[in-house]
Amino acid sequence: MDNVTVFTHPLIQHKISILRDKKTGTNEFRALIEEIAMLMGFEALRDLPLQDVEVETPIETCMTPMIAGKKMAVVPILRAGLGMVNGILALVPSAKVGHIGLYRDEVTHEPHEYYCKLPSPIEQRTIVVTDPMLATGGSAVAAVDFIKQYGGKNIKFMAIIAAPEGLKRLHEAHPDIQIYVGHLDRELNENAYICPGLGDAGDRIFGTK
Ligand code: PRP
Ligand code: URA
Repeated sequence: MDNVTVFTHPLIQHKISILRDKKTGTNEFRALIEEIAMLMGFEALRDLPLQDVEVETPIETCMTPMIAGKKMAVVPILRAGLGMVNGILALVPSAKVGHIGLYRDEVTHEPHEYYCKLPSPIEQRTIVVTDPMLATGGSAVAAVDFIKQYGGKNIKFMAIIAAPEGLKRLHEAHPDIQIYVGHLDRELNENAYICPGLGDAGDRIFGTK
C-alpha cells in the first residue's frame, strides 16, 4: 500500500512484545510507549526539510544543514495518544502540541469527539497524529477528518499496533496521509479489540481500569 510503512526493526518489535505482556506494569508500559514513538518518529520524520545555516566551529566557519523552520505539530488522540507525545518531542523539542479528544462507544465502537484544539497556523505545519492503537480505524479517520477541516494538509499518522481492518479503513478514507505502524496484528475480536494486541492502551498507560 502506498503511503503505509509497517516497521520491522528488531528494537521496535522487541519493545512491542514487552508491551503485549499483561505482566508489564504501568511504569514500564508508559516508558516503552514513549521509546517506541521516538524510534518510529525517527523514521517518520526523515523527510523534514533542511536548510543550510552558517556555524562557526572551533576550526572555521561553515555552512551546515539544520531543520528548516519550526513548523511541526504533534496531535495525540486522547487519551492513549498522549503517551507517545514525549517520544516525538524528544526528537523535535520545538514542536507544538494539539489535542483531539475522542472516545469509542463501548457498544457501537463509533468515535465521539469531546475536545479539539490545534496549534495555528495548522495548514503550514507537518502534523504527526499519535494513537498507539488503530483498531476499527473509526477514531483515526475522525481525527484526520477534523484536522483537514481545520486546514491541516501534511499529515502523518503513527500507531504502535494496527488491525488490518483499521489500517485499510484509514488508508481508504485518507490515501494522501503517511501512515506508520509498529506492528500489524492478526484481526479484531467481537469487541473490536486488536488480537493479539496489548489490551486497552489508555488504561495500561494511565493505570486505570
Ligand atoms: C482507544 C485507542 C484509540 C481507539 C482505537 O481509545 O486509544 O483511540 O480506541 O479504536 P478504533 O480504531 O476502533 O477507533 P479509547 O476510545 O479506548 O479511549 P482512551 O484512549 O481514552 O482509552
Ligand atoms: N483500543 C485499545 O486500547 N485496544 C484495542 O485493542 C482496541 C482499541
